[in-house]
Amino acid sequence: MKPTDTPQGAPRTYRVKSFGCQMNVYDGERMGELLEAKGITPAADGEDADLVVLNTCHIREKATEKVYSDVGRLVKAGRAAGKKSMIAVAGCVAQAEGEEIMKRSPGVGMVVGPQAYHRLGDMVDRAARGERSTDTDMPENNAKFGALPARRRVSPSAFLTVQEGCDKFCTYCVVPYTRGAEISRPYAELVEEAKRLVEAGAREITLLGQNVNAWRGEDDKGRSTGLDGLIKTLAAIPDLARIRYTTSHPNDMTDGLIAAHGEVDKLMPYLHLPVQSGSDRVLKAMNRSHTAESYLKLLDRFRAVRPDIALSGDFIVGFPGETEAEFEDTLRIVDAVRYAAAFSFKYSPRPGTPAATMDGQIPVEVMDERLQRLQAALNRDQLAFNAASVGKTCDVLIERKGRKPGQWLGKSPWLQSVFFDSELAIGDMVRAELVCAGPSSLQGRLLETVTA
Ligand code: 5AD
Ligand code: SF4
Repeated sequence: MKPTDTPQGAPRTYRVKSFGCQMNVYDGERMGELLEAKGITPAADGEDADLVVLNTCHIREKATEKVYSDVGRLVKAGRAAGKKSMIAVAGCVAQAEGEEIMKRSPGVGMVVGPQAYHRLGDMVDRAARGERSTDTDMPENNAKFGALPARRRVSPSAFLTVQEGCDKFCTYCVVPYTRGAEISRPYAELVEEAKRLVEAGAREITLLGQNVNAWRGEDDKGRSTGLDGLIKTLAAIPDLARIRYTTSHPNDMTDGLIAAHGEVDKLMPYLHLPVQSGSDRVLKAMNRSHTAESYLKLLDRFRAVRPDIALSGDFIVGFPGETEAEFEDTLRIVDAVRYAAAFSFKYSPRPGTPAATMDGQIPVEVMDERLQRLQAALNRDQLAFNAASVGKTCDVLIERKGRKPGQWLGKSPWLQSVFFDSELAIGDMVRAELVCAGPSSLQGRLLETVTA
């Protein structure tokens, strides 16, 4: 078959490659379900898919260039194999770049933004006729969810996007531009989707949002409610064992949500609360509207209601103008919190954001050195947290096979990876003793299977 620049014919198989955050993973799953509802099946491992969806992330630099090189690689591989895949670029790079992708990459048939992917099916039909299309519409509501097929195929730990977008405008961040304003999905729609997820096999649901704790809705009695109200409703679903939520903003934390950590057994003892920097001057320049001290006080309130809560955060080193002393403030906050897990990044100037044009951009060598020091402190604390868990007995939800034969992997309530050498099954909830700790996982000793 002679490859052409414009693919023809309806695809039979697909693959979605999601990059970046968990919200992209969720969107990727929903795109997969949508394609399956059209009769397109997932490509087998190692098989070239007829349709490849690159579900992209724009949060840090190089993401855009990576998309172009991924597309180039796919086109080249297709030529070599005499098979031309249909390529869709989805996600935040699609939103940010739009038509530009079409201009630069003739191999791309579809460009679809995060608020438009419910129309991907029609776009695929058009691509099959040789028509290329771009859809980066950003409506003011998130009606797309209502237009997607019902949830069908889920892992024991499922994601549920409850809120999208961000109104905070941290000066380094592209999210308010790529994902738009904060919008909460309606309560009834979420309760319904959660029930479908549990019927399809989910034992744990992680509620997702760029500012998940800004979620607001009206419950079935018409009362205004926040995330704590939604969590309490979901906790009443009998076969749902665990609830988590991410990512939160310190300024949207409510008394109710903090209290829920002491009241709702199914709400797991884990909180991801990005701080970004330990320096008040840098936090102000970042437009974070919290201080190091107000952040620490907030964490104290969580610890007061849930003393075993595991804390996690995001950090940026080398924000424009960050001095050595200001960076050391970040190390100090790490020492004060003792995070169980963390994500740390070098500052990356994003086009169109205020920080990208600020004075005092930090040389990359300085950022590298700071990141190393920060990560050494974070790794030290993560290992210490895991080591302190040894000897504890807890429930572990089995999510997948491990890499070694006969090995199974699950998550503890504190989101640690726990390995077992016993024969288990995906979706099992087991009671285990944590017996041995490494930097990023623990070994579990099976005590009993709680539910299979
Ligand atoms: N540069 C580096 N890190 C960033 N993040 C967001 N924008 C940038 C940027 N321009 C990080 C923040 C955020 C996480 C999702 O990504 O730490 O919490
Ligand atoms: Fe970006 Fe700040 Fe919004 Fe998080 S809160 S998505 S870092 S602008």
